[in-house]
Amino acid sequence: MNRYLISLFFILLSSYAGAQITPAKYQQPITFTTVQDHQNMMDQLGIKSLRQGPSGNESAPNHANYDTSIANPYPELPDVLMLKNGKKVTTPEQWWKQRRPEIVEDMEREVYGRLPKKIPPVTWKVEIQEREFVGRFPVIAKQLVGHVDNSAYPMIDVNIKMTLVTPANTEEPVPVLMMFGFSALPAPVQPNTDDLNKINTAFRELLSRDPEIKAILDKYPAYSPLVRSTTQFPFGGGAQGGEIPSNQQLLAAGWGYAMIDPSSIQADNGAGLTRGIIGLVNKGQPRKPDDWGSLRAWAWGAARGLDYLETDPAIDSKHVGIEGVSRYGKAALVTMAFEPRFAMVLVGSSGKGGATLHRRVFGEAVENLTGSGEYHWMAGNYMKYGASEAKFGSMNAGNLPVDSHELIAMCAPRLVFISYGIPEKGDAKWLDHQGSYMAAIAAGSVFKLLGAKDLGVSNDYMKEKMPAVNVGMLEGELAWRQHDGGHTDTPNISHFIAWVKQKFLK
Ligand code: GCU
Repeated sequence: MNRYLISLFFILLSSYAGAQITPAKYQQPITFTTVQDHQNMMDQLGIKSLRQGPSGNESAPNHANYDTSIANPYPELPDVLMLKNGKKVTTPEQWWKQRRPEIVEDMEREVYGRLPKKIPPVTWKVEIQEREFVGRFPVIAKQLVGHVDNSAYPMIDVNIKMTLVTPANTEEPVPVLMMFGFSALPAPVQPNTDDLNKINTAFRELLSRDPEIKAILDKYPAYSPLVRSTTQFPFGGGAQGGEIPSNQQLLAAGWGYAMIDPSSIQADNGAGLTRGIIGLVNKGQPRKPDDWGSLRAWAWGAARGLDYLETDPAIDSKHVGIEGVSRYGKAALVTMAFEPRFAMVLVGSSGKGGATLHRRVFGEAVENLTGSGEYHWMAGNYMKYGASEAKFGSMNAGNLPVDSHELIAMCAPRLVFISYGIPEKGDAKWLDHQGSYMAAIAAGSVFKLLGAKDLGVSNDYMKEKMPAVNVGMLEGELAWRQHDGGHTDTPNISHFIAWVKQKFLK
């Protein structure tokens, strides 16, 4: 090839590459503040005003209701086993073919939002793999990244972060608990003393190029700028009050665990809705009223994490669970409800938008979830149920076509463990433990219909009383336990592991 041809080739190549990323071809994503995005959704729905949510501060004048005698203004829950045409569901077939799809449709449209028809594929890559120690357990730790194909809209880049940690000393594929939280290698291997000395020498030399820094370093000839990190398991499922951290309890039981970072999938605020996976699919435009919210997006991301686990021979992918606490407890339940490949869920202190009944008025209310601080978790349509003035009049929790007992029922007959702590230790009354218990009671009839066991009492949610603290109801595929700790599920993890083992890991 002569020089002319070569340079022509490079000119063509660079103009081709340039065309690939020309921003002019793509509109910039909309940049809204959370308040602007919230207002945009109100406008789309024709809502003039929303009722204000009550305050979580008990001494505030507008504090939430904690009077149990008025906590059930809408005592009639939608009948989980009644078809919309009024017929009773009496066979598993009717449940799977008719009733469950009806519930899924309402749950998607009105509560959590629908997945877009076409979501670009995710390609997983193991960025780092090494042997580490978690406590006394030798493990294989993998730092993974799931890149979402953004060739249709390169203005937004989504890279799902997940860490996978499995016991090093097992041949058999292991069950895994995937947990929503910060994703980082638990104990990155550090350089040995010799290597560290070399790095420090080089680092001092580098720093000394600045005369001011050199003068400082000369004052401290024995100082080593770099020390070995001792970081271990920085976030999520960590120990409280001297307990063994959840990840170590899982490893001790022969499980692996994965940490998946929700914020790498979708931001935890309304301003982020034109970014992240929701923004990528919408090409940077605001949501429509039935589009997915952050909870559904996090759940979608967890399902993509499971796609990876299914390809990893170290994993028993038929026994993968999902876990989260608080807003991530909601996300864990939503994940389990919509993704049948997850075999079990540990739902930690999930409250409103999670296991607690929307219709209950005790602690956090629907009006909190429709306000600008939390609406992004839900579908835009959910906002209608907090509207006081709108083109459709006004609506409230009692108008929702579904409730959280049906979200739990969507998981049946797979393993569902609903966990709470106690208000005295910080698992606030705001979460409405009783409202979650009622939902679990009401969901039980579906577990039974499908040949599984529920909590083992009646399904009369207005009558059944919560068991005492630390008394587990762990006989069924649906389980309940309120531990005596705070806003965490770590005190229940040993019960969760034992229950799963008794149910199917034998
Ligand atoms: C707030 C919010 C809850 C949520 C919790 C959390 O208390 O009202 O719904 O679960 O934050 O995630 O920390």
